[in-house]
Amino acid sequence: MSLRADLSGKVVLVTGASSGLGLHMAKTLARAGAKVALAARRLERVEAEARALADEGATAVAVPLDVTDPASVEAAVARVRDALGPPTILVNNAGIAHTDRALELTPETFREVVATNLEGAFYVARATARAMIEAGVGGSIVNVASILGLRVAGRVAAYAASKAGLVRLTEALALEWARHGIRVNALAPGYVETDLNREFLSSEAGQALRARIPQRRFGRLEDLDGPLLLLASDASAYVTGAVIVVDGGHLVSSL
Ligand code: NAI
Repeated sequence: MSLRADLSGKVVLVTGASSGLGLHMAKTLARAGAKVALAARRLERVEAEARALADEGATAVAVPLDVTDPASVEAAVARVRDALGPPTILVNNAGIAHTDRALELTPETFREVVATNLEGAFYVARATARAMIEAGVGGSIVNVASILGLRVAGRVAAYAASKAGLVRLTEALALEWARHGIRVNALAPGYVETDLNREFLSSEAGQALRARIPQRRFGRLEDLDGPLLLLASDASAYVTGAVIVVDGGHLVSSL
């Protein structure tokens, strides 16, 4: 089952597009007709993915980006504008996780998680919004939060705090930027199978986790397509400051 959306004429920036959710979402948006900039620190990886999309007939470019470096953020947004035109959709996907217990969490880890997941998302959103405003175009910003921004689990204190911050940031930016025609929403995925976590999710601990999800399965990358296309496209023209949870019911699991 897929939602059809026509994103032709839209220019998309996807951060952290070298793997996992970011790469999948970049492909989904490109296949819906958008021109896509795949941004990541590992330039050679996004270059290969952009070439593969171009071979399919899409318009895609690769852009170097470290979201924790404000100069890199400014340069990346300028590069998107020069190569494809002003961005009209941003998918703020770059993020990192950790598995430390709070008592052992180092200041470095805490800072790095918040710098990437929260501050990084803010600086990319702001640079993109400025480009939209300067060009006189509105747009849609989709922040990739997590169900861990809405409920907690063990060993994810900094991650959960950063994602909760991202949810509130989504609301704050939606409020301030509505006057510029910029919508800001968040996706809150549950546990989605990717190359990085597949091994853990199939372990005994992973299977115990799965048993607590009402739909009794982990998310698939394709499960994000409909909600992403909805938020990215004009189909959600009157939706801003919202969080769409995509988790098979995990958040409403029984106490
Ligand atoms: P991933 O590790 O495959 O993707 C994260 C991407 O962000 C990578 O491409 C990485 O290079 C990039 N990145 C990290 N730090 C960066 C930086 N400083 N500058 C630029 N790029 C940077 O992991 P995954 O699972 O695809 O995660 C993507 C997003 O989805 C993250 O924000 C994560 O928190 C979120 N998420 C993932 C879930 C899952 O189950 N996989 C569930 C809920 C949310």
